[in-house]
Amino acid sequence: MKKENLSKLPYKGTDDMYPKDVFEKKYIFKIWSKVAKNFGYEEYDAPLIEDAILYKVKSGEELANTQLYNFVDKGGREIALRPEMTPSLARMIAAQRNNLLLPIRWFNIGRFYRYEKPQKGRRREFFQLNIDLLGVSTIDAEIEIIQYVMKVMDEFKAPKNTYELRINNRYLIEYLFDEILKLDTELRPKIARALDNYLKMEINDFNGYLKELGLNDNQIKDILEYINWEIEDLKKIEDRSRGAKELIQLFNKLKELSITNIKFAPYIVRGIQYYTGTVVEMYDIGSSENSRALFGGGRYDDLLEIFGEAKLPAFGLGWGETTTLDYLKTYNLLPSFKSNTKVYVTLMNESLLKDMNSLSTYLRENGINTEMQLTATKLKNQLKYANSKGFPWVIIVGEDELSKGVIQLKDMSNGESFLIKKEDVIQKLS
Ligand code: HAM
Repeated sequence: MKKENLSKLPYKGTDDMYPKDVFEKKYIFKIWSKVAKNFGYEEYDAPLIEDAILYKVKSGEELANTQLYNFVDKGGREIALRPEMTPSLARMIAAQRNNLLLPIRWFNIGRFYRYEKPQKGRRREFFQLNIDLLGVSTIDAEIEIIQYVMKVMDEFKAPKNTYELRINNRYLIEYLFDEILKLDTELRPKIARALDNYLKMEINDFNGYLKELGLNDNQIKDILEYINWEIEDLKKIEDRSRGAKELIQLFNKLKELSITNIKFAPYIVRGIQYYTGTVVEMYDIGSSENSRALFGGGRYDDLLEIFGEAKLPAFGLGWGETTTLDYLKTYNLLPSFKSNTKVYVTLMNESLLKDMNSLSTYLRENGINTEMQLTATKLKNQLKYANSKGFPWVIIVGEDELSKGVIQLKDMSNGESFLIKKEDVIQKLS
């Protein structure tokens, strides 16, 4: 019987991460976390597996059912790989409610799992930054997180004409449903979904879809009018709609702070159920390559109630690494892969192995990242290897240098070599 070879491919929708991939991810993570700390946010973490019920209560149909990686454990409990962080964060805060000082500014960078159709910007295993501010009920929470976002985009050196933060408010959607469309409860989630897909559909298909859902011509006309509202249009309903009021306040403050790259987008709803007020999504607007949001977030003032705790105002967002990497690649904003190694110690012949080992130890103990050749091959090949790996410095020591207590240091950027005393090499390489 022919032996079947195992597949070399990772599980569908997951990625093997070679050193270059890790380097690129770490570049993004470093900026996310550096700026988060700069804003006074503390890092936290939560388990990768949770009780599936955590997502069934308020994450919405898609996350809790179709996309959930769930299984029954040996004790008969229904467990899920976490598809998002927010319910775990809310659980952790509910558990320590009386011991935690408000406001809470926390961030985390972690892995998440969703059973989705793998495609551009969508993986089954992916990384997300979560940044959340809890305990602030005014829109100053939104402002702070938006300032964080803009600082991260600056750190990425993102060109201003390539991104846009789209903002809406769930209370405004409620106003549309209650006061303008006078919608039945049953139709609401379907119309909300249609609105969220507005930009992805041709206008005729959108109208046809609304008709299919049971809306009459007047209601469709009202929705199309609503979609084109500008922030100015909200003034006439400011007294009647909490959403309109909050949006006006938010855009006024953003203007005062000269924050750009923002847009009022009445069609943004977001799929997740627990959002209560402001909802945000960031898009690439400079190319047609990346149609998925870089991040999404919003206000979720009621989430702690699922744990029997009093409400706690909260605003935050989840920023995907997959979509961010695609975005940075589109605009050539990623640094090129660089080795961490500073110096490469060659081996001229086997008898020098012990001396080269102690030289490498000396360099490492002095904080110099050192890689050492372990077999005595042709020097030409060792130099070729060092060059391909992009090491900035190479050390060459033969019997002659060894007896004189010097080493030959080669600068790989220009190929120049010079002799240097062992004591001076640390200063030279630091
Ligand atoms: P979300 O919109 O489900 O929100 O996800 C946020 C971001 O995570 C998306 O915009 C996208 O960048 C990334 N993302 C989501 N699914 C995938 C996937 N299958 N593959 C790659 N990237 C993906 C939440 O998760 C909320 N919990 C965010 C939040 C935090 N709201 C308040 N605080």
